[in-house]
Amino acid sequence: MSTKPPGLRHYLQFSDLSAEDYAYLFERSALIKRKFKAYEKHQPLSDRTLAMIFEKASTRTRVSFEAGMYQLGGSVVHLTTGDSQLGRAEPIEDSAKVISRMVDLVMIRTYEQTKIETFAAHSRVPVINGLTNEFHPCQILADLFTFIEHRGSIAGKVVAWVGDGNNMANTWLQAAELLGFTVHLSTPSGYEVDQAVAGIRSGESYKVFRDPMQACKGADLVTTDVWTSMGYEAENEARKKAFADWCVTPAMMAVAKNDALFMHCLPAHRGEEVMAEVIDGPQSAVWDEAENRLHVQKALMEFLLLGRLA
Ligand code: CP
Repeated sequence: MSTKPPGLRHYLQFSDLSAEDYAYLFERSALIKRKFKAYEKHQPLSDRTLAMIFEKASTRTRVSFEAGMYQLGGSVVHLTTGDSQLGRAEPIEDSAKVISRMVDLVMIRTYEQTKIETFAAHSRVPVINGLTNEFHPCQILADLFTFIEHRGSIAGKVVAWVGDGNNMANTWLQAAELLGFTVHLSTPSGYEVDQAVAGIRSGESYKVFRDPMQACKGADLVTTDVWTSMGYEAENEARKKAFADWCVTPAMMAVAKNDALFMHCLPAHRGEEVMAEVIDGPQSAVWDEAENRLHVQKALMEFLLLGRLA
């Protein structure tokens, strides 16, 4: 018996799926969301089990994957480094071989991308990236779906990224290259995006701006993230100084398009990376964005296990 079923697909970074796959997923997410709002059962994954492995804290990712899998008719096993052998140096390869013989799908939140890639290489079932130091593809999937819900296609649009050149920024760049939009990147000196780490082919889908106000000019979407991502807490004080001018203000939103949206993957620090007037203001889509993690990940889990459904 083959240990890896033919057609096994992982979702380790945004570029693992094609533009056609995303078009399908956005339509499917809309259908799944409509059913959820109507209290209509949608349980294509009955008897399937998702293992969720968290090496970092989470609210949205935990709740959306766990609630989502139950809503799809399946069940969930929750593991953390502290309550499993993962925290006692069992090799990733061995953990992957064992866990993937017992469940149908694995979601992992961890540190280095190499760890999830090693796990996936030894897994018999699809593996989903629930955030690594380098990428956060499920979040960008939700952000794109949210943009499309509010404004239609993102092709040809401008997304302004204000802040850290982190896993979110890297993933936005992959999405821009695949789906045909432009990212205006403004990061403090020393916190730039590394194109090689972002894993993009060319520099054609983004422009770099020293001044965040210039990056926001004419943007269709302004987005940011915390100044200090999980795993970088030792740099907190240095980052507070370096990022002081990279706070999304009402003035930045005022130079964006009149109908520009604001997004933030959350959790947010009001008064640091974004002013309260922006995140709690009329252009903010952050609550839809957070909710949409549920709907897009249900579509993603269904797609990885069952393929495209009519
Ligand atoms: N945006 C996001 O991934 O949130 P959590 O860290 O709460 O999962």
